[in-house]
Order: sequence, then C-alpha cells, then structure tokens
Amino acid sequence: LNYLVPVKRREILEILINGLKRLEYRGYDSAGVAFEGSEGDDENCILKIVRKTGKVSFLQEEVFNEESGINFNKEFKIHAGIAHTRWATHGEPSPVNSHPQRSGPDNAFLVVHNGIITNYKDIKSFLEKKKYVFESETDTEVIVKLVKHVYEEHKSQNISFRECVEMAIQQLEGAFAIAMVSTHFPGECVATRRGSPLLIGVKSKSKLSTDHIPVLYSKASRNDEMKKEHRGIVGTTQRVECKAKVHTVGSEKEVEYFFASDASAIIEHTNQVIYLEDDDVASVQNGELSIHRVKRSLDDTNTREIISLKMEIEQIMKGDYDSFMKKEIFEQPESVVNTMRGRVNFEANQVILGGIKDFMPEIKRCRRLLFIACGTSYHSAVATRQLLEELTELPVMVELASDFLDRSTPVFRDDVCFFISQSGETADTLVALKYCKQRGALIVGITNTVGSTICRESHCGVHVNAGPEIGVASTKAYTSQFVSLVMFGLMMCEDRISMQERRREIIQGLKKMPQMIKEVLSLDGEIAKLASELYEQKSLLIMGRGYNYATCLEGALKIKELTYMHSEGIMAGELKHGPLALVDKSMPMLMIVCRDKVYSKCMNALQQVKSRCGRPILLCTKGDEETKQYAYKSVEVPLTVDCLQGILTVIPMQLLSYHIAQLKGYDTDRPRHLLKTYTS
Ligand code: G6P
Repeated sequence: LNYLVPVKRREILEILINGLKRLEYRGYDSAGVAFEGSEGDDENCILKIVRKTGKVSFLQEEVFNEESGINFNKEFKIHAGIAHTRWATHGEPSPVNSHPQRSGPDNAFLVVHNGIITNYKDIKSFLEKKKYVFESETDTEVIVKLVKHVYEEHKSQNISFRECVEMAIQQLEGAFAIAMVSTHFPGECVATRRGSPLLIGVKSKSKLSTDHIPVLYSKASRNDEMKKEHRGIVGTTQRVECKAKVHTVGSEKEVEYFFASDASAIIEHTNQVIYLEDDDVASVQNGELSIHRVKRSLDDTNTREIISLKMEIEQIMKGDYDSFMKKEIFEQPESVVNTMRGRVNFEANQVILGGIKDFMPEIKRCRRLLFIACGTSYHSAVATRQLLEELTELPVMVELASDFLDRSTPVFRDDVCFFISQSGETADTLVALKYCKQRGALIVGITNTVGSTICRESHCGVHVNAGPEIGVASTKAYTSQFVSLVMFGLMMCEDRISMQERRREIIQGLKKMPQMIKEVLSLDGEIAKLASELYEQKSLLIMGRGYNYATCLEGALKIKELTYMHSEGIMAGELKHGPLALVDKSMPMLMIVCRDKVYSKCMNALQQVKSRCGRPILLCTKGDEETKQYAYKSVEVPLTVDCLQGILTVIPMQLLSYHIAQLKGYDTDRPRHLLKTYTS
C-alpha cells in the first residue's frame, strides 16, 4: 500500500510509481495506481485507475504511455493519488482483482488495502441486498462499497469523507491498512489501519510547529444500528458525531503528506514520520492533516509523535551489487559491527543493551525464557538456545509462532517472552506477542525495523541495527539477531563470577568476528564453483549438530527459498533414526564438522555416511587436514568460539544458495511464491 498526498501534477504519479518500486522487495503479483483530478477548466472531479498484473514496470509503462488514454497534455490537474502492489489472498492475480478497488463504475470511491477482511462475506451479502454489484473476487471490494453506502445514506447530512470511513471500519473484522480517495471529496485522502502497518510521512521545508499531532476523539463509539442491518435486520445507520477541528502543521503550502505501509516507500522524500495506531483515521485535505479516533479506552493517548527515521536512501539501494541479497551477504562484516556498536566494551568485558537494561532485574527473576519467531528469525533462536541455557541457567523454550498459537501454550506472568522479527510486522509473531502480553508476561522485541508494530507493542527490546534488508531471503538480519541474542546472554550473567572466563572468551570472539566474516566471504569464488557442481541436483541434505544444527536448518531454508531444490536440515544425532536410508553415492549432502565439543560425534556420523558410499561435502575448521581426508569436497572456515561458530558456518550456506539460484537463472531478491513480510 502506498498512498501519497501531492501538491503538483505528473510528479504525483512518478512519486507513486517510485514508491511502489521501493516496496517491490516485499513480493507482489500485480500493481495499480489511481489519481483524482479535473480536466481542463472543468471543475468536475474524475478518478482514473490503471491496474496491471506483474511487475511495477509494466504499470509504469502503461501509465506513461502516451497511447494509454491518459492525456497529460490536456491540463489534467491531479489532486491526489493512491497506489498499491498486491499479493493475492482472495482471487487470482488479474487487473480486476488488483487495487485500487472501486465503489462502482463511476469510480466515486477508490481504496487500496493491505490485510484481510475476515467478515467480508457477511458485508458482501448485506451490500448485495442493497443492489451493489461486485466485480472482483477480493475481500477489499467490500470496504469501498461500504464507504459508498455510508456516504449515500448520510450525504444529506453533509457527512465528511473521514466520517464515512470511520463508520465503515466499525463494521470490519480482520486486519487492514487502507487509503481512499473520492470524487465527492476532491483533494482529500483518508487513511486508517487496524493490525496492518501504516505511517504518515511529513515533508516540510520549514521547521514544523510541533512534533506531536493531537488526536481528535469522535463521540460515538459504535454504530450498532448498522451492525444489526448486517445481520439482516433493517435499521438505519447513525452518523458519528465528531469534534472535527483540523490541526495544521507548519504553513499550509510548505507541508506535504505521504501515507505508506513502509518507510522505504517515502524515505527519499522525508524521514519525518507518524506511526498510526489501530483505528486512527487520518485525513489530509487541502494540505492539512487531522487524526481522529473513536474513544474506546481510558489509556488512549492524545497525541501522535512525529519521529525522525535514521534510514538513508543509499542504504536501501543496491550499490555495486547485482542483487540486494548479494549486497546484504557482503555487508555482514559491517552489519554485525553495527549490532554491537556502543553496546559491547571489549576492553572492560562489558555488554549493555540500552533498550532492556532497566528491565534486567525483572528478566533475571523470571521462571523461563521463551523465544518466539518465524522463518529465519526462528533459526536465530535455535542457534543461540544452548548458549542462553548455559549463561542464564534458565529453561529456554524456542517456538515457531504459528505452532505456539496452535497449541495455546500456557504462559505465565513470570515468563519473559522474546519476539524476534526482522520486519517487526510478521502477523503470526505479532498475534503470539499479543497472546503472551494478555497473560501478563514481560514482552521483549528483537527487531530490525525501528518503529515497527512489534517494537511498539513490546515492553522493552533490542534493535539489531543490521540496516534495511530488502532481499526476501534473510541474511544479514540473521547474523545480527544471532549477535543480539548472544549479547543478551552475556548481560544476563555479568555479575556471576563463575561465568567471567567464558564471558571474556565470547566477547573476544565477538571482537574478531567482523574480520573472520570477511575471511569467510573471501571463499565466494570457491563456493560459486561448488554451486556449479550442485545446481543440477534435485536435493541437498545438510547435516550437523550442537551449535551448528541451526546452520543446517537455516542453510536448508536458504536452498529451498532461492533454488527451489529440495533441502533438509538434519540433526546428525538423528542420522540412524531414518535419514541414513537416503545415503548413497549420488545423494548430495553437506556435513558440518567443526572442532568443538561434538566433533567426535560428528566424525561418527561422517564415518556412517562414508561406509554407505556417501560423498559428503564437508564444512570444516580451517587447516583440519585430518577431517578433510574423509571429504568428497570441503569448505574451510576459521575457528572461533564454539557458540559463535554458527555465524561463520551459515555464510557459506547463504553464498551457496545465492550461486545455485544465479546458475538456475532465478531471481535471488524475489523468490517465487514468497514474500518478505507476511502482515496477515
Ligand atoms: C518471511 C520471509 C523470511 C523471514 C520470515 C519471518 O517468510 O520471507 O525471510 O524469515 O518471514 O520474518 P520476520 O520479519 O518476522 O523476521
């Protein structure tokens, strides 16, 4: 979702399309844009829509193609526009199912929407009874038709656009972030959210008059009459009364506002943003912004703060690399430094995480630690679990958010629950967070996205500071999450005398980490060669145990995501319980055998594989000639402290999957069928 409030004309479309391009990394299957304005001297307001299946560049071609029917020479004065990239949930990817969705053939109201409306079938049948004809298979279409319905019912009372939206969303269940324009309200855009992220960018030439926007409260709480009507009982809708005072920031003409689901879409225009809360309804009209909400609870806050984001545009560009993924893999020597910056004092043997420092006494008193996440973020918890058990001497549970929720796992007030998420927006992780919060647990967010929903919903947390990650397959966020969790473990045992030697060893290991990562990255050519021998295979087994087990899981995930090959991360201790049956001379397999406490057990597994004619590629410790002699091929990584070794073993896996995907001609930034962030 990407909506921007413009002040000019054609630039508005360019801003919208460029904004969509910045969001391409999230994954999508179609895109659309709509703009509202007037033709020549005609005062009548017109809304035009262009929607395309496929890439944003296809949409761009259509919009800027002189023959496409949109004639810019004809003094078409654009007032406002909205644009969207869609990932199909209801209805196949097609122009009619793309957004913006419309209220009817006259394009009176248009909407772009992120999220899912779970009660759309009820609303649809209600509106169909009112003679509304649906043209798409989307859940989104009910939103725009419902707003139109509210407008038609109340236009004689001079209902405002914002009030129409406010009334309509009372009826919606599920998750949404929406932006709307209408021919009935020229030059105005209304946006709102519940569950899905939405922010407002504020661009001003001069200093803003305030850094807090007051929230104006509407009096009525729920439109119960309309609720009844939904269920088939005839009633009348009631107008929400509202103290509609509009607040102005700065001088009218100098301020531009942008609505967007993600800061990357607007960061090139402004770094000043306001994050909307659930059920806030924001309206921009004639260059003035107002934020309203229906008062629900006593703890509703009265203002929304304008925050300065530190994200730079260059950070989200590819630079000299051919893909974001490659750039992000090669950024890891710097990204892990950024994770540790100002937090680890290598001389004083000290670690301070400012975002959780004040909560440490409470965390230390807890009954157990729970780490909950999805995908790669989950693997970062698997990777550090053993160390956290050692350093905290507490029970540590590591959970996939979806499974955790399916099981309705018991959670107690004296639990500390960590939610790890690169984006800070993953729906399953967020629902699990709310579940634990309701049960009184302390919530710690570990995210890479400042201002994300998980950050805001947590009691305290750690920003992993890896910098924006654009490639769908997570790489640098993983190593930074890993380092963040290690730092947390170190903080937990800072005053335990018996742990000081171990702490020193780990902190010195962290100090050398950037240099060692560089060394591993220098194996790129060697790994590319290995990829050329593997890319035509159908399957790749990845085996290991102990501190390197997480690398097997994460490595297999990277291979699946990027190369579409079958891959499985196998706990080497489980070899004889099944996977051994897969072994023969043609089954590609990679084994991680490092010089740590489980070395002899790994060697045992290696022998078993060898005696079944297996041809293992070994990921082993640099210079370990003895182990290497059993290898069909080998990749050597430098030896570090046992609990940090996973950072160095995962990088060859990232590179291997990248190179195999390249050789197969696949898009390494946007693997098929996958999204960067699942907000619903
Ligand atoms: C998606 C992405 C993965 C990511 C997972 C969790 O599946 O494609 O790369 O690991 O979501 O995302 P999060 O933002 O919560 O870390």
